[in-house]
Amino acid sequence: MVSNLVELRGLKVAFDGVQVLHGIDLEIGRGEAIGLVGESGCGKSVTWLAALGLLPGKATVTGSVRVDGQEILGQPRNVLEGVRGKRIAMIFQDPSSSLNPVLRVGRQITEALAIHRGLHGQAAKAEALRLLDMVGIPDARRRLELFPHEFSGGQCQRVMIAMALAGEPDLLVADEPTTALDATIQAQILDLLIGLRSETGMAMIFISHDLGAVSQVCERACVMYAGQVVEQGSIQALFDNPRHPYTRGLFDAIPRIDGPRQRLVPIPGTVPHPSDLPEGCAFSPRCSHVAIDCRTRRPELTAMDDGRRLSCHHPLGHHPEAHHPVDSTRPVEPRALEALS
Ligand SMILES: Nc1ncnc2c1ncn2[C@@H]1O[C@H](COP(=O)(O)OP(=O)(O)O)[C@@H](O)[C@H]1O
Ligand SMILES: [Mg+2]
Repeated sequence: MVSNLVELRGLKVAFDGVQVLHGIDLEIGRGEAIGLVGESGCGKSVTWLAALGLLPGKATVTGSVRVDGQEILGQPRNVLEGVRGKRIAMIFQDPSSSLNPVLRVGRQITEALAIHRGLHGQAAKAEALRLLDMVGIPDARRRLELFPHEFSGGQCQRVMIAMALAGEPDLLVADEPTTALDATIQAQILDLLIGLRSETGMAMIFISHDLGAVSQVCERACVMYAGQVVEQGSIQALFDNPRHPYTRGLFDAIPRIDGPRQRLVPIPGTVPHPSDLPEGCAFSPRCSHVAIDCRTRRPELTAMDDGRRLSCHHPLGHHPEAHHPVDSTRPVEPRALEALS
């Protein structure tokens, strides 16, 4: 039996008694790239901060997080430190929490190499050079001597990726790695992540509110809303036939790069605050397909016969014939699928 690399089961988080994650189930196979999508405030970052034991003490975390079958949730610090950075590395949404402004970049990378791989001196320096080269920083030997502020935003992102690779992780969690960057640099970082993944074979969780970017990097996506998974499936299936009205809404809100210019259709309303969730389906007040039962009964995440999981009382139509090839009127082709086939 092929076991999963990482499994989240019923992962719940509350801050000061307010529930923000309502039981996340997710399994990540070796080498697999999964997108975690949803608007800001849906619980994407908290999911992985909780899984890696990085939330502040006021957070109550329950459920299960297994790495290679071994439970890590609630384990002592030494167990977690053997996982973080080594088995699972995370690039944080807030870059200032990742790079130390007063330390030279080379020193920061060699420290990570000492901690995670026991490399020191010339061996560490040589490996730091290799990593910077790998993430596309030119003139790496000179750049090792610089401070973070001497790098542009895109280059800082590359340095953070290099640091994340220092422990040769089996899973890289990249939290909104391109959100703060302009479109050209964004595309370069996406290409870098796609390339690194095929070079190293590591698995990847790509967190983004941008379904377009997710579809370029990942084979599968998990759509989150208000601290729950609402739809999960292959990128192809979600592109061809999004069944949750929220997934459909995310697609309609991304610009199309080909075809006639069309007005983007934003989803009306905003994500509810965790302390003020509506009755029934949390998406019901914003849903174009809402029915009476949606406002009273909360839908369960259910396995569908095409392999996806869906949490909706009145899903959008199922079009089994719509698979392959990807509809060319869609905004971006899932390039990751081609690169891997
Ligand atoms: N340290 C914290 N204390 C209290 N609430 C928090 C904290 N971190 C996140 N939250 C809340 O948890 C919810 C999910 O946040 P987050 O995971 O950051 O969303 P996303 O990454 O999807 O934008 C939000 O409502 C946010 O306000
Ligand atoms: Mg976030």
